[in-house]
Amino acid sequence: MKTINKFTMTMESCSANEYFARAAVAAFVTQLDPTLEELNDIKTAVSEAVTNCIVHAYKNSIGKIYITVEIFPDNLIKIKIRDKGCGIPDVEKAMEPLYTTVGGERAGLGFAVMQSFTDHISVRSVIGKGTTVTLNKKLELRVKCNA
Ligand SMILES: Nc1ncnc2c1ncn2[C@@H]1O[C@H](COP(=O)(O)OP(=O)(O)OP(=O)(O)O)[C@@H](O)[C@H]1O
Ligand SMILES: [Mg+2]
Repeated sequence: MKTINKFTMTMESCSANEYFARAAVAAFVTQLDPTLEELNDIKTAVSEAVTNCIVHAYKNSIGKIYITVEIFPDNLIKIKIRDKGCGIPDVEKAMEPLYTTVGGERAGLGFAVMQSFTDHISVRSVIGKGTTVTLNKKLELRVKCNA
């Protein structure tokens, strides 16, 4: 499928960048004239994925987070959030609602939230190499009024 527009950025995995990441992705997506609800869905899903890179992938260290946002025809958006952190041993299990390896501190709902706020999520992970989360979201097509 032909890419209409694309944006990539790399940032440090510090918590201050969680807000920046969601704001940057939202600003890029604004060109498609999303509804407030669609924009909030995207921001929430991006926040969860980026938080996972900060909290889990790099734990107490700082590493790089790579974000790519691609726009395809018919308002399809593909957001890739990649880290080069510790990786996930069992992706299927990690994606189960309420599953967390940081019990007591976290709810284990990040992947469930990403799933419910997007149309499709895929997760690729290799132990010791890192994780890539791909989020697909199709925005409602609105009739443009030129009057
Ligand atoms: N990028 C990542 N790198 C390494 N492990 C990850 C990554 N993302 C998620 N995980 C693992 O998957 C588990 C589930 O993630 P999920 O986001 O659903 O829940 P959580 O982060 O533990 O809690 P919450 O998101 O509710 O605060 C995490 O506890 C962690 O073990
Ligand atoms: Mg999480």
